[in-house]
Amino acid sequence: MTQRVAVLFSVSLCLLFGVLPGFSSVTEQQLNGKWRLTNSNGSLSLAAQVPGCVHTALQQQGYIQDPYFRFNDVSYRWIALDNWTYTITFTVSAQLRAKQKMLLVFEGVDTVASVSLNGIIIGKTDNMFRRYDFSVRDLLRNEEQNVLTVSLLSPVLYASERRKAHSSYRVPPECPPDVQKGECHVNFIRKEQSSFSWDWGPSFPTMGLWKGVRLEAFDVLQLIQVSSVPLYNDSSSEWRLQVDLLLDAVQTTNGRVTLSVPELNSEQSFQTDFLPGRSKRSFTLHINTSSQVKVWWPSGHGQQPFYHLSVKGLQDGSLIFNTESKVYFRTVELIQDPVVGSPGLSFYFHINGKPIFLKGSNWIPAHSFQDQVTPAVLRNLLQSAVDANMNALRVWGGGVYEQDLFYDLCDEMGIMVWQDFMFACAMYPTEDDFLQTVREEVVQQVRRLKSHPSVIIWSGNNENEAALATDWFNIPASQRPLYIKDYVTLYVNNIRKIVQEEDQSRPFLVSSPTNGAESEQEGWVAANPYDPHYGDVHFYSYVLDCWDWRTFPRTRFASEYGFQSWPSFSTLQPISTKEDWSYVSDFTSHRQHHEAGNQLMLLQAALHFNLPNSTYALKRFTDTLYITQVMQAQCVKAQTEFYRRSRSEIIEGKGHTMGALYWQLNDIWQAPSWSSVEFGGKWKMLHYFAQSFFAAVLPVGFEDSDTLLIYAVSDLGHDLKLRAVVTVYSWADLDPVCTLTSELQLVPADSAVPVFKQPVAALLAGCGHCTRLTCLLTFHLEDSSSNQQGPTNHHFLCSPRDAQGLQRPNMTAKVQQDESSFTINLHSDSVAPFVWLDVGNIPGRFSSNGFLMVSKNRTVSFSAWRPTSVAELTASLTITSLRDVY
Ligand SMILES: *[C@@H]1O[C@H](CO)[C@@H](O)[C@H](O)[C@H]1NC(C)=O
Ligand SMILES: *[C@@H]1O[C@H](CO)[C@@H](O)[C@H](O)[C@H]1NC(C)=O
Ligand SMILES: *[C@@H]1O[C@H](CO)[C@@H](O)[C@H](O)[C@H]1NC(C)=O
Ligand SMILES: *[C@@H]1O[C@H](CO)[C@@H](O)[C@H](O)[C@H]1NC(C)=O
Ligand SMILES: *[C@@H]1O[C@H](CO)[C@@H](O)[C@H](O)[C@H]1NC(C)=O
Ligand SMILES: *[C@@H]1O[C@H](CO)[C@@H](O)[C@H](O)[C@H]1NC(C)=O
Ligand SMILES: *[C@@H]1O[C@H](CO)[C@@H](O)[C@H](O)[C@H]1NC(C)=O
Repeated sequence: MTQRVAVLFSVSLCLLFGVLPGFSSVTEQQLNGKWRLTNSNGSLSLAAQVPGCVHTALQQQGYIQDPYFRFNDVSYRWIALDNWTYTITFTVSAQLRAKQKMLLVFEGVDTVASVSLNGIIIGKTDNMFRRYDFSVRDLLRNEEQNVLTVSLLSPVLYASERRKAHSSYRVPPECPPDVQKGECHVNFIRKEQSSFSWDWGPSFPTMGLWKGVRLEAFDVLQLIQVSSVPLYNDSSSEWRLQVDLLLDAVQTTNGRVTLSVPELNSEQSFQTDFLPGRSKRSFTLHINTSSQVKVWWPSGHGQQPFYHLSVKGLQDGSLIFNTESKVYFRTVELIQDPVVGSPGLSFYFHINGKPIFLKGSNWIPAHSFQDQVTPAVLRNLLQSAVDANMNALRVWGGGVYEQDLFYDLCDEMGIMVWQDFMFACAMYPTEDDFLQTVREEVVQQVRRLKSHPSVIIWSGNNENEAALATDWFNIPASQRPLYIKDYVTLYVNNIRKIVQEEDQSRPFLVSSPTNGAESEQEGWVAANPYDPHYGDVHFYSYVLDCWDWRTFPRTRFASEYGFQSWPSFSTLQPISTKEDWSYVSDFTSHRQHHEAGNQLMLLQAALHFNLPNSTYALKRFTDTLYITQVMQAQCVKAQTEFYRRSRSEIIEGKGHTMGALYWQLNDIWQAPSWSSVEFGGKWKMLHYFAQSFFAAVLPVGFEDSDTLLIYAVSDLGHDLKLRAVVTVYSWADLDPVCTLTSELQLVPADSAVPVFKQPVAALLAGCGHCTRLTCLLTFHLEDSSSNQQGPTNHHFLCSPRDAQGLQRPNMTAKVQQDESSFTINLHSDSVAPFVWLDVGNIPGRFSSNGFLMVSKNRTVSFSAWRPTSVAELTASLTITSLRDVY
């Protein structure tokens, strides 16, 4: 009686559903809004918003506090151990009932559920990353109330039961490390893997209807989804658009499909049969060769122009569908070719035939409760990325495939997306039903996302090749082939195969890090997936001195690297109490999910800085938060600059680095992590640094055998002539000691070249009474007309800890208001490194922050994200520099 129809795909592009006169339409009725939510023994029964989740509903109705407050992640563990049922009653409008076919559509169910309509089970769900729909016309009651229930099983219980059912061999890891305070066996459930805890996030195994629910009704045929990919023929210099239509027809009908891009004078019509049921039809629209196609470029390399694709369906002369969507034209290739002077293969991206250095970071879920990731949150984070001169983000495989708006914004802002499939840091089972649900997930996600020019690569998983190759899970040698077989089954024979069938317009990698083509040669699991001669590398080292570039691998592509820091006090304050405000409190260790993380930050900081030692407990705490941010900013700067200056060189067989994506952009809650933007959107010092170290033109300074070198790095598409200007300062005095200037030099388009080279001893000897301990350097690049190109950078000749003559500055600030923002005029009586302006919980952003002050005066602007005043800013402003913390 009930029929479970094949699965549908969510609509990524704007489809003009609804009641348009003149053609048979799809009519829909939303079932979002207020549902009823009950737990398994009925002790709790409350109103719940859909889309939403159990935690959010409990909080909104006052049953629980903010789940992020203090230790609540542990206190609220019971929520995900219970089963919960969502119920809604509704009547179906006459307009819908008149239609021949009616579908109940769930855009996203989190996760394991049984769905009933009027007491009859219509289906089950087991994958948060799939859309589900059910054909329900014959089950719906006319006139009367219908009752729809979704009974969710505890994801923790489900994962553990699936583990038990998989008795033949273990699928590690069994559980997260204790320090993460998480749940076990998350790899057995197709759900956000980090929701069972991560080393930067809490365990909140959510349950709910996390995306919309609705009824859709139609008579003849429904166009469910349009996806399009541009393909470029190099030999004929012609563009064509491959357009896929996902259709659901009630009976066989004969019709005509017309595709057009009017702005490019391109239109084609196709006679076609629409067969009953669900089907995908592909058409190719050749773009008129007499039209000039403007291509989409990554941010910093050009504009992001788009066109309108119109798709019309006609049957017997009447319109049966008519939609319009955006199309962008661009090509992407991953180049893995032999490299002159180096063993191995290159690894870089061509966009529209041009090699592009990827600058950016890694994206994690922006909230434990996805219903709280608002458009404003996404906009703010993505704008922060481009404002820091990033052009790429990797959507990491332990989170979620992001919402449509995320990719729309990346398209508009020119952010390239490295899109992982959602598998991370684990082995995975390969039972038939697991593979089946993954296959459906992959088909749906590829069809949903492939129209986005921002998505430049698919990648099968996060670190699972490395986990196998370097044996993270102590798998006995005799059992290794079994795990490799499962690995190849899942990522190669299933995921890769589906992606290649669905999308020929962009590359696919099986894992990250990987040796790419070399891993394939080695049977998909390379002996050393971290080999710097191939593919991408993830590299972390917390104990080695991060100021020493020799410790970094000279990889082809750095897709993960980073250091932890604490967020600001204003971010921690609302979720903690006074007793928590110490670096050694229970709270401080509770929020740290990385083994020994709090100690490691201080050990790294202590290599170069005096640690805070104020006798005032609160000052000591906030100073410590500050010093962790200084350490992180300086470490990631050193590493990123190393990668950027390595783009043109091969040294000892290694180099041609073409990507630097640090870990991580954003935070899921208020806790120590590798992020550069705090939960809530506040920029850490690292993010201000990123704005400089990702600048299109950048001077990079470093020492090699006591010789100072300055490289000019340029991502500009044209040649430059630049010289380096080095200014030597004494730590004790704001007046420069001396200035050195190099000869003008050619800096070719898209390159990194040395423009200054001098032994440090000679440099200091020619400059007053400077020694390594008494002086420091700033430097910048300028062109032949003495115009500065790129930011000013600095190089310390000793650790600031050892600097002689560094004074505690007397710094004063005056806040003023002008038309569009506020300005802060700073005045200092001495050199001040890492000057940090903080206005507490007033949201907004400074024009620069964390800077080295080597002048008496400096003006910084502040753009507030809510109304504020000079008085409020003045009262909230604190200024900290290095010498203030000890
Ligand atoms: C019902 O379940 C809740 C949540 O799991 C639990 O706290 C409560 O003790 C249970 N009540 C009864 C009567 O079993
Ligand atoms: C949740 O449902 C499962 C399966 O029906 C059952 O085994 C388990 O006891 C239920 N949990 C609670 C807390 O009632
Ligand atoms: C590309 O263009 C060449 C030359 O016009 C043509 O022979 C070839 O079939 C085209 N390839 C595709 C895939 O359309
Ligand atoms: C291509 O565009 C030109 C106008 O620029 C138009 O005259 C011509 O008919 C178009 N060709 C096709 C095949 O549509
Ligand atoms: C700090 O600087 C301000 C302004 O320049 C000055 O008025 C004040 O006396 C100075 N304070 C100290 C302790 O030097
Ligand atoms: C520098 O700042 C001080 C104190 O705010 C001010 O008196 C002085 O005029 C400023 N000097 C310049 C050159 O702007
Ligand atoms: C803090 O450390 C500095 C540098 O080691 C030292 O000079 C100062 O006396 C210390 N202050 C306190 C209060 O221990």
